[in-house]
Amino acid sequence: MTDTLPLMLPTRDAGCDWCVLPAFLPLQGMGGLTVNAFLHKGREPVLVDTGLAALGDAFLDALQAEIDLADLRWIWLSHTDADHIGNLTRILQRAPRARVVTNFLGMGKMGLLGLDTGRVQLLEPGARLTLGDRELVPLRPPYYDAPETLGFLDTRSRTLFAADSFGALLPAPADSVTAIEASALRDGLVTWSAIDAPWLATSDRDALGRSLHALERLAPTTLLSGHLPVAEDGIAALTSVIFEAWCAAPSDPADPQAIEAVAKALEGSPEARLEV
Ligand SMILES: [Fe+2]
Ligand SMILES: [Fe+2]
Repeated sequence: MTDTLPLMLPTRDAGCDWCVLPAFLPLQGMGGLTVNAFLHKGREPVLVDTGLAALGDAFLDALQAEIDLADLRWIWLSHTDADHIGNLTRILQRAPRARVVTNFLGMGKMGLLGLDTGRVQLLEPGARLTLGDRELVPLRPPYYDAPETLGFLDTRSRTLFAADSFGALLPAPADSVTAIEASALRDGLVTWSAIDAPWLATSDRDALGRSLHALERLAPTTLLSGHLPVAEDGIAALTSVIFEAWCAAPSDPADPQAIEAVAKALEGSPEARLEV
């Protein structure tokens, strides 16, 4: 194995009937990225995302060590990026009772990818997924990289799933957020947010700040992110980093692909005049 291949890590309990199926994807020169799926082992078991295709057998082994896939009822798709739907088809083949939870755009993108949409459970705006002893209330995280993104709050345990929000580049795999040195966590959060959601640089800072504070008011006990080890001490340490980076600091004018930057660079340039 080389250090550029993804690695499946040991399954870890995340509390309140949730467990995390973590992997680590090395990124040359940048450390690496956690890639998580999550399993809720309650009355109506839910798998949240389906891991990396490159880890197919290892992912399925880890998942089947936790649950008989014949019992799986729901597959909650955060969005249709490759790092979240990598093993969807294989799991659906082994989980005949499972239905895929997504929204209209998510279903459309599944169709464009050639995926089976026959077992989609469409989540209409305002709808919740009821699991018997709890509900998963859909929410749009503060930032994301695909418009169909669906996070949720588990009403029983107040576990929050934030999809790609709060992902961080890390120097090495970690069991939990508390195991990461503070400056490494801050740098990793800011760098990954700039890569994954470059629109943060031009977003409405007040609106983003309100969104972060609203998330804090939900008072989640545990944060599950697709790209961060489990955070079991709430979210304030994470939201404050994102607030400082994107809401409190002056905007960065240095992006050479910003439309304003391109327009300024072309001002007075004869090559840029439109021929009509
Ligand atoms: Fe994504
Ligand atoms: Fe992702």
